Amino acid sequence: MTGGFGEATCHKCHFGSPLSESSESLKVDAPPRFEAGKTYVITVRLVRAGTKNSGFQLSARFKDTGHQAGGLRPMDGRTAVVPGESNPVRYIQHTREGIELTGTGEAEWRFQWEAPRRGAPVVMHVAANAGNRDDSEFGDSIHTRELTISPLPDKTEVKFYCSRQMTGGAVHSHSH
Ligand code: HEC
Repeated sequence: MTGGFGEATCHKCHFGSPLSESSESLKVDAPPRFEAGKTYVITVRLVRAGTKNSGFQLSARFKDTGHQAGGLRPMDGRTAVVPGESNPVRYIQHTREGIELTGTGEAEWRFQWEAPRRGAPVVMHVAANAGNRDDSEFGDSIHTRELTISPLPDKTEVKFYCSRQMTGGAVHSHSH
């Protein structure tokens, strides 16, 4: 329900306000590039005056295939990983506890992302709901973001580049 790869967003049910794609209200703190297999801390923050409670959902998928990219792991009781309803993708989202705000009009969720072994661009989709605590799907405001995280060049690529330089260049006299 993150809006990625043709999915619906939370707006499907929480449709009281227009869908917002503003980066002012929904901020995602993720690395611009990733190293294969390395673990990063991702922060999702939703800020909106008047918000009483909120929730979110995030996915990490390969841009080319739409398959799961790496692993998502909660760091506290505010998030949990859930399987997709109609696909093998695993999503991270708020728990009951994670609905509570962390500041005035502000909610934050922190969790880990273990980057995939495969060095291909990853796209993260996030949808978040700024709720009014009326225990209904009405009067809430849905925000979405999409960000692409490119892999850092892996070591085999670097080696290849280096040996090409070596064979073609006059500077290095030693052979590989
Ligand atoms: C299939 C319909 C549906 C979808 C899709 C849906 N929700 Fe909801 N949501 C509801 C209903 C109904 C409630 C009220 C009942 C409840 O609290 O369990 C609710 C309540 C909530 C609440 C509590 C806020 C309040 O004011 O009661 C949060 C937070 C929330 N949803 C977040 C989300 C997020 C984030 C998504 C998308 C990732 C999402 N929801 C997608 C139906 C939906």
